[in-house]
Amino acid sequence: MNNFTKLGFIMATVGAAVGLGNIWKFPYMVAEQGGGAFVLIYLFTIVFVGISVLIAEMLIGYLGRGDVGQSFEVLATKNKYLWGKSVFMAFTGLFILTFYSVVIGWIVRYIFLSFGSLPVGIENSKELFESFLSSDFIPQISFHTLAFIVVAFIVIKGIKSGIEKANYFLMPVLMLIIFGLFVYSISLDSFSTSLSFIFNPDFSKLNSDVMLSAVGHAFFTISLGMGTILTYSASLPKKTNIVKASFWVAFFDTAVALFAGVMIYAFLFSYTSEANSGPGLVFISLPVVFESFGVLGNFLSLIFFVGLFFAGISSAVSLLEPVVMYLIRVLKTSRAKAVIYSGLFFYIVGILVIFSSIDSTKEYLTWGDKNLFDWIDHITYLLLPLGGIIMSLFVGFVLPRELLINTMKNQMNKVVFNIWIFNLRFIIPIALIWMILDKVFS
Ligand code: PHE
Repeated sequence: MNNFTKLGFIMATVGAAVGLGNIWKFPYMVAEQGGGAFVLIYLFTIVFVGISVLIAEMLIGYLGRGDVGQSFEVLATKNKYLWGKSVFMAFTGLFILTFYSVVIGWIVRYIFLSFGSLPVGIENSKELFESFLSSDFIPQISFHTLAFIVVAFIVIKGIKSGIEKANYFLMPVLMLIIFGLFVYSISLDSFSTSLSFIFNPDFSKLNSDVMLSAVGHAFFTISLGMGTILTYSASLPKKTNIVKASFWVAFFDTAVALFAGVMIYAFLFSYTSEANSGPGLVFISLPVVFESFGVLGNFLSLIFFVGLFFAGISSAVSLLEPVVMYLIRVLKTSRAKAVIYSGLFFYIVGILVIFSSIDSTKEYLTWGDKNLFDWIDHITYLLLPLGGIIMSLFVGFVLPRELLINTMKNQMNKVVFNIWIFNLRFIIPIALIWMILDKVFS
């Protein structure tokens, strides 16, 4: 079997976790959802829910050694058929990929833009970004195609020579870029304003919507509940300490989100005091800030968007792998063919996602108050916690006790083990079900 090495696994899983969610989404969500209070709930969820589910998901893959459906089936002692249906999670990734790849395409465009003149003034920049989204479908499709080719190329090469190898390169470079930009941002006067924006919670801004977004985002950002972690863990070398691995993944993911958030707002506040610019934050506001730095700004812009591209690609790869593993088994087909079939799905739906923002076509791809892009985003924020509930209940109630204790006894002491199981059995499912119901009925 083509297993990961231990370090390769950490790299690949950190690569899966650290993505557009950390650098593109997290900063604008902080502003949209009330600042520090959102950050606090998000951190709380990572520590008390995320890590527990992360360990559970890793464990299912590690013990099951198969794709999402197969691992559940092998490990379930009864109702195997039903548990096998958990394979729907692998398709959540494919859905996410449809818009994820489109956003990677936007990033490619801003990489090119960094070589020329950056937009001057927020109004100009907004106009540039919005007209790109609402009318320039040919460049958008071209960049989306490029993202598709890069992702397919890496996944076709498989776990070891594709995913592991790519992440050995992408992750260190990404960390270096984010850390470098962060260090630079310390020199800006606005650094302390940024710190207090992100870390000073204003509890009056806390409501159930903010809490739900924070929990949903915590799942999205550590790639939980859709079988990525499970699928990667199926190729873990035996005798890996999955508790330690989980902590590393959660740690790196959170660190990158916080470093990137503080850095981005330090840049932003050096230019304007306006924080809330939604999904356009890194595409509209940041280029203008960079422009005000002259040529140095072009360089900063270039490395920022290259870093974002790397983060996006390593996550996109991990969004595709679960479904590819599954198709290889059920269709008894080669990896290359499985990649092409699933790749074409996200590629084609991705094109529809692009058209759902184009002025002349968006009315056909909008239902209610959301276009296709927003619907997919919205639905995946529900599907991920649903996946989380299934994994928690599975490890909490279904996995044979002995197997569980034997595997974990060297990794957790008894008290921690009992808290973890209690958390998986009761606290997490109840909290997540409440959250999903609230979102569906609000
Ligand atoms: N965690 C990735 C991000 O933050 C997105 C992702 C979700 C990747 C689920 C894989 C699985 O961008």
